[in-house]
Amino acid sequence: MKAVTINAYGETPRLSERPDPKVGPDSVLVRTKAVSVNPVDWKVADGKLDAVLNVHFPLILGWDVAGVVERVGPAVTEFRPGDEVIGYNRQDVAEFGSYAELVAAPVRTLARRPASLSWQQAAGLPLAGLTATQALRAAAVSTDDTVLVNAAAGGVGSLAVQIAVARGARVIGTASSRNHDYLRSLGAEPVSYGEGLVDRVRELVPGGVDVALDLVGGAATAASLELVRYPSRVVSIIDPGIAESGGRYVFVRPDASDLTDLGELADAGKLTVNVQQVLPLEETDQAFRMSREGRTRGKIVLVVPSA
Ligand SMILES: NC(=O)c1ccc[n+]([C@@H]2O[C@H](COP(=O)([O-])OP(=O)(O)OC[C@H]3O[C@@H](n4cnc5c(N)ncnc54)[C@H](OP(=O)(O)O)[C@@H]3O)[C@@H](O)[C@H]2O)c1
Repeated sequence: MKAVTINAYGETPRLSERPDPKVGPDSVLVRTKAVSVNPVDWKVADGKLDAVLNVHFPLILGWDVAGVVERVGPAVTEFRPGDEVIGYNRQDVAEFGSYAELVAAPVRTLARRPASLSWQQAAGLPLAGLTATQALRAAAVSTDDTVLVNAAAGGVGSLAVQIAVARGARVIGTASSRNHDYLRSLGAEPVSYGEGLVDRVRELVPGGVDVALDLVGGAATAASLELVRYPSRVVSIIDPGIAESGGRYVFVRPDASDLTDLGELADAGKLTVNVQQVLPLEETDQAFRMSREGRTRGKIVLVVPSA
Protein backbone atom coordinates (compact mmCIF):
# COMPACT_ATOMS: atom_id res chain seq x y z
CA MET A 1 0.00 0.00 0.00
CA LYS A 2 0.97 3.63 -0.29
CA ALA A 3 1.61 5.54 2.94
CA VAL A 4 3.20 8.80 4.08
CA THR A 5 6.31 7.97 6.06
CA ILE A 6 9.43 9.38 7.66
CA ASN A 7 12.56 7.35 8.47
CA ALA A 8 13.82 9.73 11.16
CA TYR A 9 12.64 12.79 13.07
CA GLY A 10 12.87 15.97 11.03
CA GLU A 11 12.60 14.28 7.62
CA THR A 12 10.24 15.58 4.95
CA PRO A 13 7.20 13.26 4.86
CA ARG A 14 7.04 11.28 1.61
CA LEU A 15 4.62 8.89 -0.05
CA SER A 16 6.24 5.45 -0.10
CA GLU A 17 5.33 1.81 -0.61
CA ARG A 18 4.73 -0.11 2.65
CA PRO A 19 3.41 -3.60 3.45
CA ASP A 20 -0.33 -3.76 4.15
CA PRO A 21 -0.89 -3.59 7.95
CA LYS A 22 -1.63 -6.79 9.88
CA VAL A 23 -4.95 -6.83 11.71
CA GLY A 24 -5.03 -7.87 15.39
CA PRO A 25 -7.98 -9.62 17.10
CA ASP A 26 -9.62 -6.38 18.34
CA SER A 27 -8.99 -4.34 15.19
CA VAL A 28 -10.51 -3.75 11.79
CA LEU A 29 -8.80 -2.99 8.50
CA VAL A 30 -10.04 0.34 7.12
CA ARG A 31 -9.64 1.36 3.49
CA THR A 32 -8.99 5.06 3.85
CA LYS A 33 -11.08 7.74 2.14
CA ALA A 34 -9.73 10.80 3.96
CA VAL A 35 -7.53 11.70 6.92
CA SER A 36 -7.21 15.00 8.73
CA VAL A 37 -4.12 16.97 9.61
CA ASN A 38 -3.70 17.82 13.27
CA PRO A 39 -0.83 19.94 14.59
CA VAL A 40 0.25 16.89 16.61
CA ASP A 41 1.05 15.06 13.35
CA TRP A 42 3.90 17.41 12.47
CA LYS A 43 4.91 17.67 16.13
CA VAL A 44 5.36 13.88 16.13
CA ALA A 45 7.37 14.12 12.89
CA ASP A 46 9.59 16.77 14.49
CA GLY A 47 10.29 14.46 17.47
CA LYS A 48 8.44 16.68 19.96
CA LEU A 49 6.47 13.76 21.44
CA ASP A 50 9.36 11.34 21.75
CA ALA A 51 9.08 11.35 25.55
CA VAL A 52 5.45 10.16 25.53
CA LEU A 53 5.23 7.93 22.45
CA ASN A 54 6.99 4.69 21.62
CA VAL A 55 7.93 5.62 18.03
CA HIS A 56 9.24 3.08 15.52
CA PHE A 57 10.68 3.95 12.10
CA PRO A 58 9.76 3.97 9.32
CA LEU A 59 6.82 5.81 10.87
CA ILE A 60 3.52 6.16 9.02
CA LEU A 61 2.22 9.55 10.19
CA GLY A 62 -1.28 10.56 11.21
CA TRP A 63 -4.00 9.58 13.66
CA ASP A 64 -7.41 10.63 12.26
CA VAL A 65 -9.06 8.37 9.70
CA ALA A 66 -12.32 8.05 7.77
CA GLY A 67 -12.93 5.05 5.53
CA VAL A 68 -14.64 1.74 4.85
CA VAL A 69 -14.11 -1.45 6.86
CA GLU A 70 -12.53 -4.08 4.64
CA ARG A 71 -11.86 -6.88 7.14
CA VAL A 72 -12.42 -7.46 10.86
CA GLY A 73 -10.31 -9.22 13.49
CA PRO A 74 -11.67 -12.44 15.05
CA ALA A 75 -12.87 -10.80 18.29
CA VAL A 76 -14.69 -7.93 16.58
CA THR A 77 -18.50 -7.90 16.82
CA GLU A 78 -19.06 -4.15 16.45
CA PHE A 79 -18.32 -3.75 12.73
CA ARG A 80 -18.61 -5.66 9.47
CA PRO A 81 -16.95 -5.29 6.09
CA GLY A 82 -18.55 -2.39 4.23
CA ASP A 83 -19.27 -0.30 7.34
CA GLU A 84 -18.27 3.35 7.07
CA VAL A 85 -16.21 4.45 10.07
CA ILE A 86 -14.22 7.30 11.58
CA GLY A 87 -11.47 6.98 14.15
CA TYR A 88 -8.81 8.62 16.27
CA ASN A 89 -6.31 5.82 15.90
CA ARG A 90 -3.70 6.82 18.47
CA GLN A 91 -1.87 3.93 20.05
CA ASP A 92 0.93 3.88 22.62
CA VAL A 93 3.24 2.44 19.98
CA ALA A 94 3.43 4.83 17.03
CA GLU A 95 4.37 3.06 13.81
CA PHE A 96 1.28 2.44 11.67
CA GLY A 97 -0.50 5.80 11.41
CA SER A 98 -3.48 6.82 9.30
CA TYR A 99 -1.83 8.63 6.35
CA ALA A 100 -2.10 5.43 4.31
CA GLU A 101 -4.37 3.55 1.93
CA LEU A 102 -5.07 0.95 4.65
CA VAL A 103 -5.24 1.42 8.43
CA ALA A 104 -5.56 -1.26 11.12
CA ALA A 105 -7.59 0.37 13.90
CA PRO A 106 -8.68 -1.13 17.27
CA VAL A 107 -12.46 -0.88 17.70
CA ARG A 108 -11.94 1.22 20.85
CA THR A 109 -10.80 4.04 18.51
CA LEU A 110 -13.73 3.88 16.06
CA ALA A 111 -17.32 4.97 15.55
CA ARG A 112 -19.71 4.94 12.61
CA ARG A 113 -19.33 7.76 10.13
CA PRO A 114 -22.07 10.38 10.72
CA ALA A 115 -24.36 10.31 7.68
CA SER A 116 -24.60 14.11 7.60
CA LEU A 117 -20.86 14.67 7.12
CA SER A 118 -18.91 14.18 3.89
CA TRP A 119 -15.87 11.91 4.01
CA GLN A 120 -13.65 14.96 4.27
CA GLN A 121 -15.66 16.53 7.09
CA ALA A 122 -15.91 13.17 8.88
CA ALA A 123 -12.12 12.77 8.78
CA GLY A 124 -11.77 16.11 10.58
CA LEU A 125 -14.00 15.16 13.49
CA PRO A 126 -12.21 12.52 15.66
CA LEU A 127 -9.10 14.01 17.28
CA ALA A 128 -10.31 17.61 17.41
CA GLY A 129 -13.85 16.67 18.43
CA LEU A 130 -12.70 14.28 21.16
CA THR A 131 -10.32 16.91 22.51
CA ALA A 132 -13.11 19.47 22.64
CA THR A 133 -15.50 17.00 24.31
CA GLN A 134 -12.99 15.83 26.89
CA ALA A 135 -11.82 19.39 27.69
CA LEU A 136 -15.41 20.58 28.18
CA ARG A 137 -16.08 17.54 30.36
CA ALA A 138 -13.03 18.30 32.51
CA ALA A 139 -14.50 21.77 33.07
CA ALA A 140 -17.99 20.30 33.75
CA VAL A 141 -19.62 22.74 31.31
CA SER A 142 -23.39 23.10 31.62
CA THR A 143 -26.29 25.31 30.51
CA ASP A 144 -25.68 28.10 32.98
CA ASP A 145 -22.03 28.61 32.07
CA THR A 146 -20.29 31.29 30.09
CA VAL A 147 -17.33 29.67 28.34
CA LEU A 148 -14.27 31.38 26.89
CA VAL A 149 -12.74 29.36 24.05
CA ASN A 150 -9.25 30.59 23.12
CA ALA A 151 -8.35 29.88 19.46
CA ALA A 152 -12.01 29.29 18.68
CA ALA A 153 -11.54 29.26 14.88
CA GLY A 154 -9.10 26.32 14.83
CA GLY A 155 -9.81 22.61 14.62
CA VAL A 156 -10.41 22.03 18.32
CA GLY A 157 -11.86 25.49 18.98
CA SER A 158 -14.49 25.35 16.21
CA LEU A 159 -15.82 22.09 17.61
CA ALA A 160 -15.59 23.19 21.26
CA VAL A 161 -17.71 26.25 20.46
CA GLN A 162 -20.42 24.15 18.81
CA ILE A 163 -20.48 21.50 21.55
CA ALA A 164 -20.69 24.14 24.30
CA VAL A 165 -23.46 26.00 22.42
CA ALA A 166 -25.32 22.69 21.99
CA ARG A 167 -25.18 22.27 25.78
CA GLY A 168 -26.82 25.66 26.17
CA ALA A 169 -23.74 27.58 27.31
CA ARG A 170 -22.95 31.16 26.30
CA VAL A 171 -19.67 31.08 24.37
CA ILE A 172 -17.07 33.77 23.79
CA GLY A 173 -14.36 32.86 21.30
CA THR A 174 -11.01 34.45 20.54
CA ALA A 175 -9.78 34.81 16.94
CA SER A 176 -8.30 37.38 14.62
CA SER A 177 -10.89 39.74 13.11
CA ARG A 178 -11.00 37.89 9.77
CA ASN A 179 -12.55 34.95 11.65
CA HIS A 180 -15.15 36.90 13.66
CA ASP A 181 -18.04 36.25 11.24
CA TYR A 182 -17.04 32.58 11.20
CA LEU A 183 -17.23 32.44 15.01
CA ARG A 184 -20.66 34.12 14.93
CA SER A 185 -21.81 31.46 12.45
CA LEU A 186 -20.82 28.81 15.03
CA GLY A 187 -22.78 30.55 17.76
CA ALA A 188 -19.96 32.33 19.60
CA GLU A 189 -19.43 36.00 20.46
CA PRO A 190 -16.03 36.87 18.94
CA VAL A 191 -13.23 38.85 20.58
CA SER A 192 -9.74 39.54 19.25
CA TYR A 193 -6.83 38.01 21.13
CA GLY A 194 -3.62 39.87 22.09
CA GLU A 195 -3.04 42.96 24.25
CA GLY A 196 -6.23 43.96 26.12
CA LEU A 197 -7.97 40.57 25.78
CA VAL A 198 -9.03 40.47 29.43
CA ASP A 199 -10.65 43.94 29.18
CA ARG A 200 -12.46 43.02 25.95
CA VAL A 201 -13.91 39.90 27.53
CA ARG A 202 -14.94 41.86 30.63
CA GLU A 203 -16.83 44.32 28.41
CA LEU A 204 -19.00 41.36 27.35
CA VAL A 205 -19.05 39.59 30.74
CA PRO A 206 -18.24 42.09 33.52
CA GLY A 207 -18.11 39.39 36.21
CA GLY A 208 -15.74 37.17 34.25
CA VAL A 209 -16.42 33.76 32.72
CA ASP A 210 -17.22 30.42 34.36
CA VAL A 211 -14.99 28.27 32.16
CA ALA A 212 -11.97 28.92 29.95
CA LEU A 213 -10.46 26.52 27.42
CA ASP A 214 -6.82 27.28 26.73
CA LEU A 215 -6.00 25.93 23.27
CA VAL A 216 -3.03 28.28 22.77
CA GLY A 217 -0.81 28.61 25.84
CA GLY A 218 1.22 31.65 26.93
CA ALA A 219 -0.85 34.82 27.18
CA ALA A 220 -4.07 32.84 26.64
CA THR A 221 -3.32 30.75 29.74
CA ALA A 222 -2.70 33.85 31.85
CA ALA A 223 -5.83 35.61 30.55
CA SER A 224 -7.91 32.48 31.17
CA LEU A 225 -6.78 32.27 34.80
CA GLU A 226 -7.52 35.97 35.27
CA LEU A 227 -11.02 35.71 33.81
CA VAL A 228 -12.45 32.67 35.65
CA ARG A 229 -13.88 32.65 39.16
CA TYR A 230 -12.33 29.27 40.01
CA PRO A 231 -9.02 28.15 38.48
CA SER A 232 -10.23 24.54 38.50
CA ARG A 233 -12.43 25.51 35.56
CA VAL A 234 -9.51 26.49 33.33
CA VAL A 235 -8.65 23.56 31.08
CA SER A 236 -5.49 23.64 29.01
CA ILE A 237 -4.64 21.23 26.20
CA ILE A 238 -1.24 22.89 25.82
CA ASP A 239 0.33 23.30 29.23
CA PRO A 240 0.49 20.48 31.83
CA GLY A 241 1.92 23.14 34.19
CA ILE A 242 -1.59 24.61 34.49
CA ALA A 243 -2.09 22.20 37.40
CA GLU A 244 0.26 24.36 39.51
CA SER A 245 -2.25 27.21 39.16
CA GLY A 246 -5.19 24.94 40.03
CA GLY A 247 -6.32 24.30 36.45
CA ARG A 248 -6.60 21.02 34.54
CA TYR A 249 -4.59 19.60 31.66
CA VAL A 250 -6.22 17.29 29.12
CA PHE A 251 -4.39 14.96 26.72
CA VAL A 252 -7.03 13.55 24.39
CA ARG A 253 -7.77 9.81 24.48
CA PRO A 254 -9.43 7.61 21.87
CA ASP A 255 -12.98 6.94 23.05
CA ALA A 256 -15.55 5.13 20.92
CA SER A 257 -18.48 6.31 23.04
CA ASP A 258 -17.46 10.00 22.91
CA LEU A 259 -16.89 9.69 19.16
CA THR A 260 -20.35 8.15 18.66
CA ASP A 261 -21.87 11.05 20.63
CA LEU A 262 -20.05 13.55 18.39
CA GLY A 263 -21.45 11.84 15.32
CA GLU A 264 -24.96 12.00 16.77
CA LEU A 265 -24.52 15.71 17.47
CA ALA A 266 -23.53 16.19 13.82
CA ASP A 267 -26.50 14.18 12.58
CA ALA A 268 -28.78 16.23 14.84
CA GLY A 269 -27.61 19.33 12.95
CA LYS A 270 -25.83 20.78 15.99
CA LEU A 271 -22.26 20.37 14.83
CA THR A 272 -20.42 20.57 11.55
CA VAL A 273 -16.79 20.46 10.44
CA ASN A 274 -15.42 23.30 8.37
CA VAL A 275 -12.87 21.93 5.89
CA GLN A 276 -10.63 24.80 4.89
CA GLN A 277 -8.36 22.93 2.51
CA VAL A 278 -8.27 19.52 0.82
CA LEU A 279 -5.00 18.13 -0.54
CA PRO A 280 -3.99 14.72 -1.87
CA LEU A 281 -2.03 12.48 0.50
CA GLU A 282 1.20 13.02 -1.42
CA GLU A 283 1.06 16.72 -0.53
CA THR A 284 1.40 16.10 3.20
CA ASP A 285 4.49 18.30 3.33
CA GLN A 286 2.47 21.25 1.96
CA ALA A 287 -0.36 20.46 4.41
CA PHE A 288 2.14 20.48 7.30
CA ARG A 289 3.53 23.86 6.13
CA MET A 290 0.01 25.31 6.20
CA SER A 291 -0.82 23.80 9.59
CA ARG A 292 2.43 25.08 11.12
CA GLU A 293 1.37 28.66 10.29
CA GLY A 294 -1.35 28.28 12.94
CA ARG A 295 -4.02 30.05 10.88
CA THR A 296 -6.24 27.09 9.93
CA ARG A 297 -9.98 27.80 10.02
CA GLY A 298 -11.44 24.41 10.94
CA LYS A 299 -9.51 21.54 9.36
CA ILE A 300 -7.01 20.64 6.64
CA VAL A 301 -7.82 17.25 5.11
CA LEU A 302 -5.80 14.83 2.98
CA VAL A 303 -7.57 12.52 0.55
CA VAL A 304 -6.41 9.22 -0.84
CA PRO A 305 -6.50 9.70 -4.63
CA SER A 306 -7.71 6.18 -5.43
CA ALA A 307 -10.54 6.29 -2.84
N1 LIG B 1 -3.52 18.03 24.60
C1 LIG B 1 -4.17 17.48 23.57
O1 LIG B 1 -4.66 16.35 23.66
C2 LIG B 1 -4.33 18.25 22.28
C3 LIG B 1 -5.30 17.81 21.36
C4 LIG B 1 -5.50 18.55 20.19
C5 LIG B 1 -4.72 19.66 19.94
N2 LIG B 1 -3.74 20.02 20.82
C6 LIG B 1 -2.92 21.22 20.58
O2 LIG B 1 -3.79 22.33 20.69
C7 LIG B 1 -3.44 23.35 19.77
C8 LIG B 1 -4.65 23.72 18.93
O3 LIG B 1 -4.98 22.62 18.10
P1 LIG B 1 -5.89 22.85 16.81
O4 LIG B 1 -5.99 21.56 16.11
O5 LIG B 1 -7.14 23.57 17.18
O6 LIG B 1 -4.93 23.86 15.99
P2 LIG B 1 -5.22 24.68 14.69
O7 LIG B 1 -6.47 24.20 14.03
O8 LIG B 1 -3.97 24.71 13.90
O9 LIG B 1 -5.49 26.16 15.25
C9 LIG B 1 -5.45 27.22 14.36
C10 LIG B 1 -6.21 28.41 14.95
O10 LIG B 1 -5.48 28.99 16.01
C11 LIG B 1 -5.84 30.37 16.06
N3 LIG B 1 -4.81 31.09 16.77
C12 LIG B 1 -3.48 31.15 16.48
N4 LIG B 1 -2.85 31.89 17.43
C13 LIG B 1 -3.80 32.28 18.32
C14 LIG B 1 -3.78 33.06 19.52
N5 LIG B 1 -2.63 33.57 20.01
N6 LIG B 1 -4.94 33.23 20.18
C15 LIG B 1 -6.10 32.72 19.71
N7 LIG B 1 -6.19 31.99 18.57
C16 LIG B 1 -5.04 31.78 17.90
C17 LIG B 1 -5.98 30.76 14.62
O11 LIG B 1 -6.94 31.78 14.53
P3 LIG B 1 -6.59 33.14 13.72
O12 LIG B 1 -6.21 32.68 12.33
O13 LIG B 1 -7.85 33.91 13.79
O14 LIG B 1 -5.42 33.75 14.42
C18 LIG B 1 -6.45 29.48 13.93
O15 LIG B 1 -7.82 29.49 13.60
C19 LIG B 1 -2.24 22.79 18.99
O16 LIG B 1 -1.05 23.24 19.59
C20 LIG B 1 -2.38 21.29 19.17
O17 LIG B 1 -1.15 20.60 19.04
C21 LIG B 1 -3.54 19.35 22.00
